[in-house]
Amino acid sequence: MTTLTVNGKRHEVDADIRTSLLDALREHLALTGTKKGCDHGQCGACTVLVNGRRINSCLTLAVMHENDEITTIEGLGQPENLHPMQESFLHEDGYQCGYCTPGQIVSAVGMLGEFKDGWASHASGDLEGKLDLSDAEISERMSGNICRCSAYPNIVNAIRKASE
Ligand code: FES
Repeated sequence: MTTLTVNGKRHEVDADIRTSLLDALREHLALTGTKKGCDHGQCGACTVLVNGRRINSCLTLAVMHENDEITTIEGLGQPENLHPMQESFLHEDGYQCGYCTPGQIVSAVGMLGEFKDGWASHASGDLEGKLDLSDAEISERMSGNICRCSAYPNIVNAIRKASE
């Protein structure tokens, strides 16, 4: 049995010791907002926050995270109370088919958290202050998240607007 703390709740997960964090989230906890694209660390669709830092959940075992705080897209906001990054993706049309969107948003929150700790907390999305990131810098820092529809200009706009 593996104990995971996800979006502030503790769960007992009866999973094989070889289960990836991604599969534990999707198949054992029904948190299907986190997507499986490549399952090989190449697309970023499976991005979650572990103690506020973004990781590819397909590349790590669930059992390695018993003492960590895991945040998925479901923990960032609710339909009636979206996280500012979710709002920004919505307003800027930062998606096309939407499959990569949860990973893009979680990764963007984690990326801004690398500058401002408040961003990594699912309670906040603290917008105090402005980050002066260029579009090229945002693209570089988001390069682990692939969008096969190529919605990159709007994704970058959404992240820049959220950071302002
Ligand atoms: Fe994990 Fe693609 S599913 S990086």
